[in-house]
Amino acid sequence: MVDFLQPVRDFLACPTPAPWIEGALTDIPLLLQDHANCEKKAAGTAMNLLFRYNDRPELQTLLSQLVREEMLHYEQVLEIMRARGITYRPVSAARYATGLREHVRHGEPERLVDIMIVGAFVEARSCERFALLAPHLDEELGRFYTFLLRSEARHFEYYLELATRYSPVPIASRVAHFRAVERELIESADVEVRFHSGPLAA
Ligand SMILES: [Fe+2]
Ligand SMILES: [Fe+2]
Repeated sequence: MVDFLQPVRDFLACPTPAPWIEGALTDIPLLLQDHANCEKKAAGTAMNLLFRYNDRPELQTLLSQLVREEMLHYEQVLEIMRARGITYRPVSAARYATGLREHVRHGEPERLVDIMIVGAFVEARSCERFALLAPHLDEELGRFYTFLLRSEARHFEYYLELATRYSPVPIASRVAHFRAVERELIESADVEVRFHSGPLAA
């Protein structure tokens, strides 16, 4: 497991703060609902990109695969919820994705490159959190999260590959910018626990 997690850990500026885990484990049904929403949103975001960037063949190939996998994850989370008698409840989105997207530049190809970098961070953080949560969960969920983190590690690579491909200049400075933004979002206190939230405010 260490091998494919290492690039993800190296990419992120900071590990998830320990208090986040404690908060996340207090309400597993909430975590699962938020997780389901995240999978559906990951597919929806990638689907929108497929329509917006029709003329980019590599993006079409990698993101169609990603959409299929995110929808499969969505179905799998729903099935786990159904088996556990967890019914739908509305869960507001974390500030995380919006906080990252605020920094996306206008104009092309800068917008495309930044969206790909944001995608890489979202996937990398998801992967890191699945790995972190897995040992604290019951056997079924632990196994499921261990399975998922492999996909998210691959999705992280897809987005990074596309960012590199479509950028006319090296992407290091943009990656560094989003790395700092992501760190701030992950380390600062939040009022609600979400899959991508910071630790709960004391
Ligand atoms: Fe997923
Ligand atoms: Fe993913």
